[in-house]
Amino acid sequence: MDYFNYRGNDLYAEDILVKDLALKYGTPLYVYSKATLVRHVKAFDEALKSRRHRICYAVKANSNLAILNLMAKMGLGFDIVSEGELRRVIAAGGDPHKCVYSGVGKTPDEIRFALQVGVDCLNIESEAESFVISKVAKELDVVAKVALRVNPNVDAKTLPAISTGLKNNKFGIAHEDAIRIYKRMALDPNLKIIGIDCHIGSQMTSGTPIVEATLKLLEIYNALKDLGIEIEHIDLGGGLGVIYDDETPPTPEAYFAAVSEQLGDIDVALYVEPGRAMVANAGILLTKVQYQKTNGNRNFAIVDGAMNDLIRPALYGSWMNIINAQKREGVLSKFDIVGPVCESDDFLGKDRSLNIEDGDVLVVRGAGAYGSSMASNYNSRRLPCEVMVDGDKSYVIRARQNYNDIWKDENILPN
Ligand code: LLP
Repeated sequence: MDYFNYRGNDLYAEDILVKDLALKYGTPLYVYSKATLVRHVKAFDEALKSRRHRICYAVKANSNLAILNLMAKMGLGFDIVSEGELRRVIAAGGDPHKCVYSGVGKTPDEIRFALQVGVDCLNIESEAESFVISKVAKELDVVAKVALRVNPNVDAKTLPAISTGLKNNKFGIAHEDAIRIYKRMALDPNLKIIGIDCHIGSQMTSGTPIVEATLKLLEIYNALKDLGIEIEHIDLGGGLGVIYDDETPPTPEAYFAAVSEQLGDIDVALYVEPGRAMVANAGILLTKVQYQKTNGNRNFAIVDGAMNDLIRPALYGSWMNIINAQKREGVLSKFDIVGPVCESDDFLGKDRSLNIEDGDVLVVRGAGAYGSSMASNYNSRRLPCEVMVDGDKSYVIRARQNYNDIWKDENILPN
């Protein structure tokens, strides 16, 4: 559920007319609803309340400081995958001691910074990485708290591009190798084993894969227990899907009830790393229709938002719902909604039945996750403005980029 609803023919973001936001701030424009974000955080907290738990919001889904700050104020930790994300969390007032650090390619410098600020746990993704972490920890004279990110070889039944827990994916450490590496790490004075981690994929619309992964992690937990290696937390990553179209993902409550049943009464904290489920439906992208034309038998509505603002349709063929900010009566026609970028794949949606006129504001729903965080300057287009709505107030949480800022780090050769 979100707080972007029609009243009559007009779409509102909480208590503000969406078309007024487009007028005030210009388009393309990301608009977020604070009430929706708060609601999602509470839904996760409620779903996990029967266990000791930590929600580590996956920063990559939307890394705007205002969003991170809101999450931090609600007590959340963070899943980070780079020094940049860790620095963002700190800049937003988040607590590095509540951060878990995933990622297959952490550099020694990144590991050093993470250890210096005292992240909660480094999720190790290869045996080679465990050696580097040990070495850096020794140099700093600290003990690094670690978990292995296990690749449980479970099919998340999602798009191949966002599936991460199969043995052919680059992520994690093969399930079969985990115990051997844990045993070796247990003897390393520079490392303290605290967890077992996995993240098997994103936009999962069934609860079955995560239960399968939980069982695989439990096998490891039990084997480690027999070896006298105590685990403090099990981290099941992110991945809970959202509704873009007609998907029927489980609620957080149903999703974690099934997981909790498998975990039984073992005394570990449950960590989760949700990204999409927290922010996707808390954000929309507004874009204005510039021109319409027909080529061959296709109608095109050319809008001012493009693949550089929202790349999911172009990159993954993701279907995202596109609606009018102000509903029009009359006949619907099929349109491809395309941007001004010079790529045939620059589209936000294809074959959409809409009634459109030039100047209309269109709304891409579910754009809060992997929208602005994946935006780029391609075609030297400015990064879009972002606004957060709170009741009848709106706040700019990222100003539209200045043109000069696009090339401010570039230099012309001396004569
Ligand atoms: N933890 C780890 C280690 C991850 O790699 C991810 C996402 C998450 C948590 C959060 O997963 P979520 O709850 O958001 O599903 N750009 C793609 C999604 C890529 C997901 C990458 N990893 C998209 O737009 O669909």
